[in-house]
Amino acid sequence: MSEHFQNLNDFPNGKTIKEMRKYAQTNKIPVLNDDGLALMLQLVDLVKPKHFLEIGTAIGFCVINVATACDGVVIDTIEKNNEMYQEAVKNVEAAKMTDRIRISLGDALEFDTSKIDYRFDIIFIDAAKAQYVRFFEKFSPFLAEDGIIVSDNLLFHGLVEKDARIENRNLRSLVDKIRDYNVWLSKQKDFKTLFLAIGDGMAVTRRLK
Ligand SMILES: C[S@@+](CC[C@H](N)C(=O)[O-])C[C@H]1O[C@@H](n2cnc3c(N)ncnc32)[C@H](O)[C@@H]1O
Repeated sequence: MSEHFQNLNDFPNGKTIKEMRKYAQTNKIPVLNDDGLALMLQLVDLVKPKHFLEIGTAIGFCVINVATACDGVVIDTIEKNNEMYQEAVKNVEAAKMTDRIRISLGDALEFDTSKIDYRFDIIFIDAAKAQYVRFFEKFSPFLAEDGIIVSDNLLFHGLVEKDARIENRNLRSLVDKIRDYNVWLSKQKDFKTLFLAIGDGMAVTRRLK
């Protein structure tokens, strides 16, 4: 983000958030970047979610920002990596938000949805990029009528747009899957999606009435 905008934007800036930012940089943890965070916080400000679901917690950076910016929100977030989960638990405790942020350890695709008896106003998909269609299909039935789904990393460092062949087979397959997700998302008849070249490429999807 431009330094000028950075200085003008009023991001949450508590002690835990500052420490998490530093930790993510030092340990190369891919948390939401400043542009992505700016968009997310603006969406949160507009939607004023009561329930927020994040798929892919990492160290809890995004959810602690969201909970700081939105008093009334209750957040569910799912993380499959135990080390990340432990770090996120520590950060949520340090931020004194254990009553508002519930972290589940496990693969989001195996998450037991039978106990969800409420609807999410915002669902943030930010986990394994190759699984985005499956995440969307599993969790979109739990989206509130006026809710939105935000997906991140849809340009994947600019690789999704590059025509040049990517040598590495695994990387090529991953990039193809992200491109396929973007096209698939754009064709969902019950949803309308806006694709934005913000951060690493983000999409904001809403259900059509
Ligand atoms: C990009 S990071 C999340 C960053 C976080 N949303 C933020 O902005 O602060 C992606 C995280 O998703 C987790 N992850 C990947 N696949 C997952 C899955 N199937 N279920 C749950 N978590 C998963 C990874 O372990 C990683 O910590």
